[in-house]
Amino acid sequence: MAAGVADCGLSESDLDRWSPPATAAVAETAERRRRGDIGFLDLPDDRHQVRAALDYAASLAPEIDTMAVLGIGGSSLGPHSLYSALARPLDALRPRAPGMPRRLLFPDNADPATFQAVLELCRPEKTVWNVITKSGATAETAAQLLILFEHLEAALGADAARARVVVTTDPSRGPLRRLAERLGLSSFPIQPSVGGRFSVLSPVGLLPAAVAGLDVMGLLAGARAMRDRVLEPDVRRNPALFLAVALACHHVDRKRPMVVMMPYADALYDTADWFRQLWAESLGKAVDVEGKPVHVGPTPIASRDATDQHSQLQLYAEGPDDKVFLFVSPAQRPTRLPIPRSEPALAEPEDYGYLAGRDLGELLDAELRGTVASLTRRGRPNATITLDRMAAPALGELLMLLMAATAFAGPLYRVNPFDQPGVEEAKQLTYAALGRRDFSHLTTTLASARDPDPRYRF
Ligand code: PA5
Repeated sequence: MAAGVADCGLSESDLDRWSPPATAAVAETAERRRRGDIGFLDLPDDRHQVRAALDYAASLAPEIDTMAVLGIGGSSLGPHSLYSALARPLDALRPRAPGMPRRLLFPDNADPATFQAVLELCRPEKTVWNVITKSGATAETAAQLLILFEHLEAALGADAARARVVVTTDPSRGPLRRLAERLGLSSFPIQPSVGGRFSVLSPVGLLPAAVAGLDVMGLLAGARAMRDRVLEPDVRRNPALFLAVALACHHVDRKRPMVVMMPYADALYDTADWFRQLWAESLGKAVDVEGKPVHVGPTPIASRDATDQHSQLQLYAEGPDDKVFLFVSPAQRPTRLPIPRSEPALAEPEDYGYLAGRDLGELLDAELRGTVASLTRRGRPNATITLDRMAAPALGELLMLLMAATAFAGPLYRVNPFDQPGVEEAKQLTYAALGRRDFSHLTTTLASARDPDPRYRF
């Protein structure tokens, strides 16, 4: 708030001014929910899907030790954030032993080098593949699927190959749904009202999380508790609305268009990466809700605790005052790692003595305090979200908080947060570039991206 940040923070009069549009944003979101347009707020109540995900996980043969998730954007970032936050640190790198939870892999790109390596790494008889695409048509995921099928059929034969693939897609439409029905593949639905980047609490996130043995019930319980708090129309009582207003006010009124999410826990970095997509794709729009050109949108940045203190903080602290900082940190760290009172520390007390007997987590907490103090002193607005524990209920709360804040920020920026025409255009140009006849009308757009000026081809 203003007084704390060299008078550069929010004031009570800012909150009063933004209060009417904020209350209207909640009403608009509630109305869209009532009409069935937006489904993410109701996902925590869908006990059927979580049961189905847990049943699928329980049905897997014990020799299966890996699930590779083939999806991109909202079809990968959500489950990835759950796995990073809730599985053991560096889980995917640990050698598997009988009885260990299954690992997850997320080759969410069309880079042949990576995907070839994943195919080599994942032994066919020990791996299941979750192909996630809501549209069923995304080229990167479709191409991986086609490569995968041939790879598995060559290794296992057609029937066993099909048993190794489970798809998550629209319940009735799209090429992947058709393929699943034709081949009799196991499948999970993504409701049409749940957009990709709002789908982490649907089977998109729940199925991989259940397969990895994560606490999906706790996740949904946390999300449900937060959902019940964010339907409140008063900006001073609704944490998601407060966040949306704070970020919109700093952008629109104070010309700070960037929000840096900086978790102080490695486990939460992929949550910041997930938020980066959520905030950018939902709010970066060419036109407003009335169709008028606006080209509006904040720029989210995912940053990494102490690592980026030694990389980005110089810019954040002393560069242009165009950012707001959102720190995320657990109140208690799941791992304690004492720094010993050993000879090198005690023999050089002036050099290392201050570390002896402390915990490594205390160092990271101290770095967070130092960074907050440094930015605050310089009038750089910041907020800290504290998770009471690094556990599924708190993560569920955080994810719901951020999705609701995004939904409310849409009306504050006067844009539709639930569409993504820019992403769709890029998908269609990819189809055209690969010669799909039904997108041949876009070949002139492709050609219009002219060759670079030869004078500046160095
Ligand atoms: O949030 C979104 O809608 C997008 O990021 C999509 O998730 C992404 O483009 C992948 O789409 P699909 O799930 O249809 O493959």
